[in-house]
Amino acid sequence: MKLSDTIYDAIIIGTGIAGLNAAASFSRDKNVLLICKENSWDCNTFYAQGGVAVAVDDEDIPSHIHDTLEAGAGLCDEKAVEILCNDGRDAIDDFIKRGFLFDKDEEGNLLYTKEAAHSRNRILHAGGDATGRHMHHFLMQENPHKLLYNSTVTDLFIEDGYCHGVRVYHKDEFRNYYAKNIIIASGGVGSIYEYHTNARAISADMQGLCIEKGCDLRDMEMMQFHPTVFIHNRGARKQLLTEALRGEGAHIVDENGKRFLFEYDQRGELSPRSKVSRAIFDWKKKTGLEVYLNCSMFDEVFFRERFPTIYFNLRDMGFNLPNDEVPISPAFHYAMGGIETDLNGKVPGMHNLYAIGEVASTRVHGANRLASNSLLEGLVFSRRAVKDILQNDVDFQVKKFSNEEEILKKPIDSKLKNELRHLMWEAAGITREKKKLQEALEKIEKMLKKDIGKLLRLRLNTSRNIVKSAIYREEPLGAHYIITKR
Ligand code: SIN
Repeated sequence: MKLSDTIYDAIIIGTGIAGLNAAASFSRDKNVLLICKENSWDCNTFYAQGGVAVAVDDEDIPSHIHDTLEAGAGLCDEKAVEILCNDGRDAIDDFIKRGFLFDKDEEGNLLYTKEAAHSRNRILHAGGDATGRHMHHFLMQENPHKLLYNSTVTDLFIEDGYCHGVRVYHKDEFRNYYAKNIIIASGGVGSIYEYHTNARAISADMQGLCIEKGCDLRDMEMMQFHPTVFIHNRGARKQLLTEALRGEGAHIVDENGKRFLFEYDQRGELSPRSKVSRAIFDWKKKTGLEVYLNCSMFDEVFFRERFPTIYFNLRDMGFNLPNDEVPISPAFHYAMGGIETDLNGKVPGMHNLYAIGEVASTRVHGANRLASNSLLEGLVFSRRAVKDILQNDVDFQVKKFSNEEEILKKPIDSKLKNELRHLMWEAAGITREKKKLQEALEKIEKMLKKDIGKLLRLRLNTSRNIVKSAIYREEPLGAHYIITKR
């Protein structure tokens, strides 16, 4: 048993863009501890390809706000969107000033690309299609604070509106860490779906823990499915084919070469991602035809330089791009819903608990996230949370807690996890039906009654919340496509 005596100024759970940028926003003299489950790069930021959306100049801010609200289908918090788009430019300029290099043209101008549902080119990128990896690497190099690897947070010590610290499972033992402020930046829910683009460690456990601690999740029915994913690779994380490919001209075709998306929306490949996902899903079901991404219009040298991640990853899987067509399917990509917070990332009813990035719900994305707004969200709301912490300087007596813990994993868990993934994909996936959702809810309740480990229970808590939210919202909205039978 080891009880740490240190009381940190802040503990940050997660080392994606939100967590690392929060760490960077604390000066070196603050005592900050970052915690990540496995390796620091095992986060969704690392795999983000397309880029980061940002208003190109002040005149573009209203249009970025408009596009974000349109995509959000009426469920956005307008104030949150204004903050994102207004503060976004400043956050990016600050990132560049700190030394980060986005891709530029030969004259040294920033290159902006287009993605679906943006009314103009406003997506910055780095390393071609390796934007997230480059940003993550930069933030890791910059990080002055202590980082604990291979550590799963298993409990939050919440009492009377204060979070005193966390319990962590590290190297076969439990350890308690204490802090004046706790920031959850642990990402979304990828591992609860059969097909997803997320990092392996993203498994919905912090959301499930928050439910047990009485903190609310919000808009959990709002799950986004990316339309262009190669799902036949081995391993849980499927290969994303960035939306920027379509932004720059790639086509979606069926096996007869038909660009069928125009039968669903006149914007074709540039329709919002939920529409493209549903159209692919529907076309496959209706016609029985395979659907492909066709990149043959790109020059090979250009393609390799602009999309090196995809070029080399797909080459390893046997594709010769840009000439070969790649079979695609939608796959789970991003959770708009999350732990409810205010506009500074603070959890309602708590004095010192924050959630930022994908794990949070500020309602900045509403019912459907506009492409490439998530890295920007990570930058903007991490700065706001830290500013709030520094301004408020919360004053309370941090208490010590015992480090007894439940059993985290039991033998039955891995079989049930696979069943859960399939269930969520079938019932709470791209299209939903009330009957299937209700059956899924019953199955989840049954799993929860079995002799399972704590980590699976947390995952099931989150899944149950998603399914219940989907049942509750009876009309389709944004990414939540429920088939209503009248
Ligand atoms: C992509 O590169 O298509 C993903 C961008 C995003 O999720 O916003």
